[in-house]
Amino acid sequence: MGEHGLMEVRLTGGEPTEHPDFFSIMHAFRDEGVYVSVATNGMWNRRTLAGLCREPSLWVICSIDGGREVHNRFRPGTFDKIITNLRCLREHNPSARIRVTTVLTRHNNKQMFELGKIALSLGAESITVIPLRPQVRNPEVVNDMVTAAEFRQVIEDLIAVKDRLGIPFTTTMETHYKSIIYRDPIVRKHSSCAAGREALNLDYNAATQKFQVYACSYSPASDLTASSTVRAPFLAGEFALDNLSALAAIWQDESAWTLYRDLSIRSRTCQDCTFLKHHQCTGSCPIQNIDYSAINADRDVLAQLREQIVRTGEWYCYQHILGSDETGGTSDGRS
Ligand SMILES: C[S@@+](CC[C@H](N)C(=O)[O-])C[C@H]1O[C@@H](n2cnc3c(N)ncnc32)[C@H](O)[C@@H]1O
Ligand code: SF4
Repeated sequence: MGEHGLMEVRLTGGEPTEHPDFFSIMHAFRDEGVYVSVATNGMWNRRTLAGLCREPSLWVICSIDGGREVHNRFRPGTFDKIITNLRCLREHNPSARIRVTTVLTRHNNKQMFELGKIALSLGAESITVIPLRPQVRNPEVVNDMVTAAEFRQVIEDLIAVKDRLGIPFTTTMETHYKSIIYRDPIVRKHSSCAAGREALNLDYNAATQKFQVYACSYSPASDLTASSTVRAPFLAGEFALDNLSALAAIWQDESAWTLYRDLSIRSRTCQDCTFLKHHQCTGSCPIQNIDYSAINADRDVLAQLREQIVRTGEWYCYQHILGSDETGGTSDGRS
C-alpha cells in the first residue's frame, strides 16, 4: 500500500484504541510501509497505554477540548486521566509524536494560551484547532459555533502562542495565514480540507465484510443511523475486504467525488471570488457551502440537507474572516 502511494492511515472512530484488534491493525498497516496515526480520546487503560509506550514511530492525535473545566463539560471527568496518560507516554516513549486537537467552540475560543501551555507541558508537537461543524444527527451544535470574527481572533491568538510558547498550530484556514500554519513534516496536505481530494474515509462493516468509502466524516455518510437516502449523495462507493484494488478504481472515478472535486458547484459567492479563481480557497466547507440543486437526490432529502447543513451555521468564508478591507470583497459569506 505504501509503495502505491498511500501516505498515512489514521485510525479513528469512535475510539480506535477500544477495538479488540487495535494493535494488530496498526502493525498490519505499518508492515505495508504506511505511516499510521491514531485519533484518540486519550482515555487508555493500562494495557493500551503500555502497548502505546512500546510503539515505534507513533503519532497520537489526542482530543483536548479546552482547559480542564471546559474539556470536562464536553467529555465529563476525563481531563486528568488524559493528561496523566499523555505524560506517561511522553516519558516512556520519547519518540512518540503528540498532537493536541481541539474542536473550537464558543466555550474555548478564549483559551488558546491555556491550550498552548497544556501542549507545552505534554511535549506536544502542535495544536490543531477544528471549528465545530454542524452535523445532521446533532444540528443544535450550531449554537456552540464561533463567528467568523471570533475565528479570526483565535488564529491571531494561536500565532501569539506559536511566537511566545513555541507551539505551532494548524487549522482549517489558509489564504493569508498559509505561511504561518504548521506543515506536518511527514504528511503534508495541500489545502485545509483534504476531503475527497487528498484523503478519504473508510468504514468497515463486519456483517457484510465491506468497506464504505466516503470523503467527509462530518457529512451524513459517517452516520450509520441515518437513512440510506440521506447518506447516498455523500458515499463514493464500497468494496469487499478481498478486493482492495477496487478502492483505487473508486478513487479515480471523478463522478464519485463531485461534491468535493467540482468547484463549479460551490455557491455563487464563491464563483465570483478571487480567492477561488486564484486557487487560494476551495470554497470553505464542501458540504456546507454547496449548491444543493447540483445533487441528484430526492426533494425531501435535499430539503433536510439544506435545513440541517447549509442553513445551520457560518461556513467560515475567508473573505468574511479576513474582512472586506483586506480582500476588496463585500461578501457576507453566504449564498
Ligand atoms: C470523531 S473523533 C474520533 C477520535 C476520538 N474518539 C476522539 O474522541 O477524539 C475525531 C475528531 O473529530 C472531532 N469532532 C467530533 N465531532 C465534531 C464536530 N461536529 N465538528 C468538528 N469536529 C468534531 C473530535 O473532537 C475529534 O477531534
Ligand atoms: S467566497 Fe469565501 S469561501 Fe468562497 S472561495 Fe471566496 S473566500 Fe472561499
